[in-house]
Amino acid sequence: MTRFILPFNRRIGERSVLWGLIIGFGLVVILLGIAGLVAVRDSHAIRKNAARLVQEQLLVARLLHEVQAEEDALALIVHRIVREVGMEDRVARIEDLKKADKAVAKLAHEARLTAHAQDWQSLAQATQLFSEKARTSLEHGGATSRTHMEELISSHEVVVKLIHDLILHSTKHLAEVDQQIGLQLQDLADESAVLLGSSLLLSGLCAAGTILFVRHSIRRIEWQQDELSRVSWHMLQTQEETARRFSHELHDELGQSLAAVRSNLVRRVDENFEDRRADCVVLVDQSIANVRELSQLLRPVILDDFGLDAGLRWLTEKFAQRAQVEMTYDSQLETRLHSDLETHLFRIAQEALTNIARHSKATQVKVTLTTELDQVQLIVEDNGGGLSINREHSRQSLGLTGMRARARECGGSLELQAVRPHGLRIFVTTPMRLAQD
Ligand SMILES: Nc1ncnc2c1ncn2[C@@H]1O[C@H](COP(=O)(O)OP(=O)(O)O)[C@@H](O)[C@H]1O
Ligand SMILES: [Mg+2]
Repeated sequence: MTRFILPFNRRIGERSVLWGLIIGFGLVVILLGIAGLVAVRDSHAIRKNAARLVQEQLLVARLLHEVQAEEDALALIVHRIVREVGMEDRVARIEDLKKADKAVAKLAHEARLTAHAQDWQSLAQATQLFSEKARTSLEHGGATSRTHMEELISSHEVVVKLIHDLILHSTKHLAEVDQQIGLQLQDLADESAVLLGSSLLLSGLCAAGTILFVRHSIRRIEWQQDELSRVSWHMLQTQEETARRFSHELHDELGQSLAAVRSNLVRRVDENFEDRRADCVVLVDQSIANVRELSQLLRPVILDDFGLDAGLRWLTEKFAQRAQVEMTYDSQLETRLHSDLETHLFRIAQEALTNIARHSKATQVKVTLTTELDQVQLIVEDNGGGLSINREHSRQSLGLTGMRARARECGGSLELQAVRPHGLRIFVTTPMRLAQD
């Protein structure tokens, strides 16, 4: 079964437009907010990273400066040992060596968190090795042997080379750090551009969607107003038509019958009294039937007296006789509904059956009245030609419009569904309102 609904089936009001605007522009604000937050978070992270790197470089610079000072002290000791000068205060020199040793070990410890911690450890070991050798020389009052002297000088050279390497590595590392920060800044700029671009694109889409929704809503509101005025005009015309028909019926049928009864009554009593009396009885019977028909036409008494179920049963039976179709009527309704609801559902069914007789060429019709939870459902289904999907929604066709207006008046909705292989189903759902409500 395919389902299609006439355009603008659902009612739209100020609230839906307002919600559309709030959701649309809310999304725009959220997207831009997210873009801003991500950019701020990234730049914050880069600033933190850069600050950490700069801190590390400052530390390295200080350590290098201090280690160079220690190296100067060591170089002086080597010089004295080699030249054999100032050997009189050997104890003080040994103390100097111990201090230099300790100082380098302390610097290596401080450098444990920097990029070249391993180099600093090697330097500390090399310094220790050198000072042991220098201490031995000092304890022996100067250079002991040539080999020992060579060893002392070469171990000092190792220390000098390690310090030199450290300076070289740190300079290289500084250049790398600089490059790293540059790359991170570039990444941030690229990421921000992409983020801002996509946020702008999404915001543009959201804004365009919101504008389209609002435009559509305004058109729907205009259409609803138009429909309302057409329905009111149609009702006025229908009222006028009913009044005219009523007036004709009263004048042509009831007026004529009463005139004939009167003329029978004013004749002389002795003239064919029995014939005239019988004539009067026939005329009065006809008038009673006419009045009953007129009254049923205006509003079926059965609806007021016995409710919607009885009213629909009466309507479907009469329709089956008149239109010569196979009619099925099913109802689950056991209680009386609110009189407005009964009237609206009855009139919807009446118009649906009139349409079936007029437009459908159906041979079978099914009317069903069901209740589910707190909903009432009225279904009128035929096996006729069905609605043409391409049918222009004629401005003159107010039957369906009126039916929909009635369904909405009850707080419900009306759907038109195509029945396979052919035919039309009118599906009305409204909230249940009982008679005492
Ligand atoms: N049961 C049906 N089967 C086929 N077509 C239908 C049926 N009911 C309505 N229609 C189509 O829908 C149109 C609109 O119906 P309606 O609004 O009641 O106007 P009207 O009956 O005055 O033409 C009809 O002209 C007809 O083409
Ligand atoms: Mg109609």
